[in-house]
Amino acid sequence: MNQSPDQSLLAASPWWRPNPGTSLVIQGGARLAGIYPISGAKNAVLPLMVSALLTPHFVTLHNVPASLDVAVLSNLLQRLGVGLNWSTNGSGLSLTLCADQVRPARIDWDLVTRMRASVLLLGALLARCGEACLPMPGGDAIGLRGIDFHVAGLRAMGAAVELTGGLIQAKAPRGLHGAVVTLPQPSVGATENLLLAAVLASGRTVIHNAAREPEIADLVRCLTAMGARIEGLESGVLAIEGGGPLTGAVHTVMPDRVELGTIACAAAVTDGEVLLEHGRADLLGAAGPVLAAAGVMLEEGETGLIARRSLTGLAGIDVQTRPFPGFATDLQSPVMAMLTTARGASAITETIFEQRFRHVDELRKMGANITVHGRTAWVRGVKCLEGARVTATDVRAAAALVLAGLGARGETVLDGLDHLDRGYDRMADKLVACGAAISRSAV
Ligand code: EPU
Repeated sequence: MNQSPDQSLLAASPWWRPNPGTSLVIQGGARLAGIYPISGAKNAVLPLMVSALLTPHFVTLHNVPASLDVAVLSNLLQRLGVGLNWSTNGSGLSLTLCADQVRPARIDWDLVTRMRASVLLLGALLARCGEACLPMPGGDAIGLRGIDFHVAGLRAMGAAVELTGGLIQAKAPRGLHGAVVTLPQPSVGATENLLLAAVLASGRTVIHNAAREPEIADLVRCLTAMGARIEGLESGVLAIEGGGPLTGAVHTVMPDRVELGTIACAAAVTDGEVLLEHGRADLLGAAGPVLAAAGVMLEEGETGLIARRSLTGLAGIDVQTRPFPGFATDLQSPVMAMLTTARGASAITETIFEQRFRHVDELRKMGANITVHGRTAWVRGVKCLEGARVTATDVRAAAALVLAGLGARGETVLDGLDHLDRGYDRMADKLVACGAAISRSAV
């Protein structure tokens, strides 16, 4: 996952320019002040783009983040026959997708293994074309990340699914039908995959123990605008009256709650004050109170949330990651980076993914005092981190290390930038506009 994608793989996204250089150089200590526009959410836009496969009509998405994952998925969709039309205006990228002809071709290994969200093509292609064949999805190496819930749900809906030689081959020649599915865990991806399949399947599907993340609600809103009938939003039980057909829709992608929480931490770490434009407290779930307990103040402003450090400073906390509305696993590493210099000790327990502490070794290189016992990382606050050369191992680890570098004394060089570019729309540029001293380097 660390190699830069070949430019030809990104041809479907004319706006995508590989960022110059391979490393980010951060001079720590600058106080952040200004307006930081929160982009459209990475984890919302990907299923929304896939939803366009369900209809021959135009689906237009506004507030699309200019990230590498969006560029890669655009290419995947184009190879399936989906027409893409990009435009820009003052508020960012818009994308119109038209899947009037879908070719359920076997999808390139190189693209699919770059991102986890490619697995969502399974439900959508099965529902629209009655067949799908794709390599096992890639994505961040943060745990086992099986697809058994996805497969079991689709089988219950009448699909024949085989997993052989690293390929997922699925067929439903007589179409999918509704089913009652209970997810063993409220999986975000499985809920999205089954939703995408269920809106075109014949009859009623009920998903018990469905994920309640705001990105699911965003997908449901878009599918509803396309004419789908879905009940139970945010209740944990989704009931879908399938059968389509679906129309087109125009939808604005929700703001990125992970970027929101991360930059709030960055404001606190640098003792700055940042207006997180488009930010909303309701998107954060339990992360709002968790940040407040750690000393990150969030105040409602006219166009977003204003983030600053509390007068009493940052303090250690005990926190566990949980499915929404619990504290998001995607904020675990940025919050840990912040707590490395908080007063006292913190206990951070990761319950969603088995291997999501790979940033710990990198933070230690910067002088953090962290020990890991099982699924809990014990963080004892130190006075200040020291700049160092560190490597991002996944999207959120990359953001955590940027945050650590902003607060550290001296220079931090961050390698593995593809991870940052996969998940964030110009994060470094937006931080520079708020006073951060960050540049790209080829060294
Ligand atoms: N799981 C299974 N089998 C399945 C599906 C999930 O065992 O078939 C397990 C996973 O291994 C994990 C847990 O269930 O332990 C939850 O996984 P989930 O399916 O909810 O995660 P996901 O859909 O793979 C999405 C986000 C992640 C985010 C998680 C949890 C996207 C593209 N990815 O992953 O985002 O951490 O939900 O909120 O939406 C990120 O953005 O950096 C990222 C990793």
